[in-house]
Amino acid sequence: MSHPLFDLSGRVAVVSGAASGMGKAMSLGFAESGADLVLLDINLEGAEDTAQAISKLGRKAIALKCDVSDAGQVRAAYSRTDSEFGRVDIAGNVAGEGHTGRPEEIELAVVEKVFKNLVIGRFAACQEAGRRMLAQKRGSIINLGSIGGVNSLGRGHTPYGMAMGAVIQMTRELSTEWSGRGVRVNCIVPAQVMNKGLEARMQARPDLTTTFLGGIPMGRFGKPNDIKGLAIFLASDASSWVTGAVIPLDGGNLALNAGGSYPGGPRVYG
Ligand SMILES: NC(=O)c1ccc[n+]([C@@H]2O[C@H](COP(=O)([O-])OP(=O)(O)OC[C@H]3O[C@@H](n4cnc5c(N)ncnc54)[C@H](O)[C@@H]3O)[C@@H](O)[C@H]2O)c1
Repeated sequence: MSHPLFDLSGRVAVVSGAASGMGKAMSLGFAESGADLVLLDINLEGAEDTAQAISKLGRKAIALKCDVSDAGQVRAAYSRTDSEFGRVDIAGNVAGEGHTGRPEEIELAVVEKVFKNLVIGRFAACQEAGRRMLAQKRGSIINLGSIGGVNSLGRGHTPYGMAMGAVIQMTRELSTEWSGRGVRVNCIVPAQVMNKGLEARMQARPDLTTTFLGGIPMGRFGKPNDIKGLAIFLASDASSWVTGAVIPLDGGNLALNAGGSYPGGPRVYG
């Protein structure tokens, strides 16, 4: 039996990146806890598959094609949410990609693209969700950040790290502005969670696997479903006094000083 504080029945959640990975897992988690869903993704077919899985759970879900790097498309998706559901209680801002390159060479157009994807896209979604939630005097916004917004990943991730740092600070600013009016804003910062892009990069450079795992004391990569519990907690009344929080989902990565500690836990003491 689940605790009633985690019950999301009667609530409507808008989640971006809902066709795969953490956005999909978050959407399914919300539906399993009783919410109805608006699923945004550039991959409409994938979002429709998630919608079907949610329908099988007995919840309502619509899938919309939406590129979060285009604020106009984000705004249109929220207008459609108004006509379909008439409210927004939860926003999960998950979609958006980075690009890698040497910082001394990277084109400013690429930096702008990353910011449009990760910062402007999330901010537009926060604005749209926030306005509706402020009018309702209740709502929870969850921004996906990254450990790369807290400390440096290196490996050519400068624009990504800059953007994720901005996502974290945006979360703090908005939570400060809005929490007195009922709207909570929090940020989840994952370490490496398996997805197709990460798999391809590790296949191309097998030494990345040991490098990544060396930074994760729990000794395993994240799985998309690892986000479910934290997302349901942040969306629900179970976290009613939690706002402006930046919460690692990282198997202990941010707690570790990789340069000053042996990775991997007790086995290194022998
Ligand atoms: N996987 C990780 O290791 C990790 C770690 C920290 C942060 N993140 C961040 O978390 C988010 C989700 O990562 P994931 O691992 O679930 O990725 P994923 O690749 O499994 O899924 C991303 C989804 O977002 C969609 N998408 C991509 N760009 C989009 C856009 N412009 N508009 C709308 N949809 C778009 C894709 O079609 C896909 O369905 C990303 O912002 C990523 O940077 C990921």
